[in-house]
Order: sequence, then C-alpha cells, then structure tokens
Amino acid sequence: MNQHLASPTPNNAPSVPTAVVEVSAVHKAYGKVEVLHGVDLNIAAGERVALMGPSGSGKSTLLNCLSGIEPIDAGSIRVGSYALSHASESELERYRRECIGYIFQSFHLLPTLSAFENIELSGQLIDMPTAERAERVQTLLEAVGLAHRAGHKPDAMSGGERQRVAIARAIMHRPQVILADEPTGSLDSSSGGRILDLLESLSLQYSIALLLVTHESSATRICERVVHMKDGCIVSA
Ligand SMILES: Nc1ncnc2c1ncn2[C@@H]1O[C@H](COP(=O)(O)OP(=O)(O)OP(=O)(O)O)[C@@H](O)[C@H]1O
Ligand SMILES: [Mg+2]
Repeated sequence: MNQHLASPTPNNAPSVPTAVVEVSAVHKAYGKVEVLHGVDLNIAAGERVALMGPSGSGKSTLLNCLSGIEPIDAGSIRVGSYALSHASESELERYRRECIGYIFQSFHLLPTLSAFENIELSGQLIDMPTAERAERVQTLLEAVGLAHRAGHKPDAMSGGERQRVAIARAIMHRPQVILADEPTGSLDSSSGGRILDLLESLSLQYSIALLLVTHESSATRICERVVHMKDGCIVSA
C-alpha cells in the first residue's frame, strides 16, 4: 500500500458527498511571480464545473497543477486516492495515466497515428489487454460519431473531428476527472456545441467529473456550477 495514498473512509463515518478533487490553499509561482495565491476548490464525483476568468488569471496553471505537470509551492491537491503534493515522479506518472483525462484547445493528437491508434494509446499506457482495448476504442469511436474515420490520421480530419478523437482518448482509461482547457476555443460554434454535448453525455454516462475552462458563457450550460478566477484566486465557488 502506498504511503502517499489517502486513507479510506472508516466504515462508521457519516456518508457525505465525496469530493473527487480537493484543492486546498494552493500557491504556485513561476520564478518570483506568484500566479496562484491560495486556491481552494472541491469537485464532487461526476460533477461538471466551469472555470472562467480573465486571460492570465491562472486557469491553465491550475489545470497543470491538477494534472501533476506543474508542482505546487504550498497547499495540497488530492484527486481520487492520490495526494499530489507528496507523490513521487513514478506515482505522478501513474496518476496521469489512470486518473485524469486532459483535453486541450489544440487537440494534441499524435500526427503519425490514426484516430483508432491515438485513442488506443491511452489503454496501452495502462497495459489494458489488447482485445479489451480494441473493443473499447470501437465503442468510443461510435460514441463520438467517428466509427467511419477510424483509420484517418489527424491531418485528414476537421477540427471538430480531431477534438472528438481527443475526447475519446481522454476517457479511454475511464478517468475520474476530465480537465478540459478551452476545448471549443478553436472550433466554430456548431462544432463547439457538439463537443460540449459530447462532454456532458460522456460525463453523465461514465460518472466522470469535468473541470471545463472556458471564456464562453454559453459553454457553462453543460455545467452544474461555475467558478470564477481572478488574479490567481477563486473569487466565487
Ligand atoms: N511556464 C510559465 N513560466 C512563467 N510564467 C508563466 C508560465 N505559465 C504561465 N505563466 C504566467 O502565469 C500567469 C497565468 O497564466 P495562465 O496560463 O495560467 O493563465 P490563463 O488564465 O490560463 O489565461 P488564458 O485565458 O489566456 O489562457 C500569466 O501571467 C502567465 O504569463
Ligand atoms: Mg489558459
């Protein structure tokens, strides 16, 4: 048993809604410039939360800290059973592969792999058996409406199609949380609308929590809660 994993709830504890994400008093600086000034944020299992705020307020930095890409300077972050502030590099790697799905504005698909292979990679990284992997990729391709594009490489797909592949890749390993940084930012409004519908339905279907960074207030329609960030702090939660 890993010493850095959070303790399980005792059997006799009162049942309260469990937060799958607990961010507490997080500070993060780049050099001498502090970007996050004590961020607190809890997200319940399966909850969809929109994160809004001006450019430079620290939204992407918070997502990078949540994904374990950026270390924090003070405070604590727990996601599922992982306490990130104390985790070793290998635990963080396992955490990123198993626990979270990350979706970027610019898709970040591997250009030499087909849609099928890009999605499959998430399963390979956690040693999912080949047959299960293939079945799951097929199910996801159908869920995102791209079964007919399985063999296409990213540069032979539209922006909306690429983002649908990226979403399928992000949930292939059934993460507890999806971190999405302006996932509709480079799409026209109708493709963006489809992406939002897809994120909502997959979050509901698989009970995956979603933290959605967006500048568009219309995107908050798929979220149960909106939080605002200003100058490195959450100003309403
Ligand atoms: N790797 C880095 N090194 C130094 N400073 C950084 C780095 N990443 C971000 N910053 C700074 O941290 C601040 C917050 O940046 P961040 O990218 O988190 O903002 P944001 O809220 O996501 O903005 P946007 O809406 O434009 O994406 C900015 O002032 C930015 O210049
Ligand atoms: Mg950003």
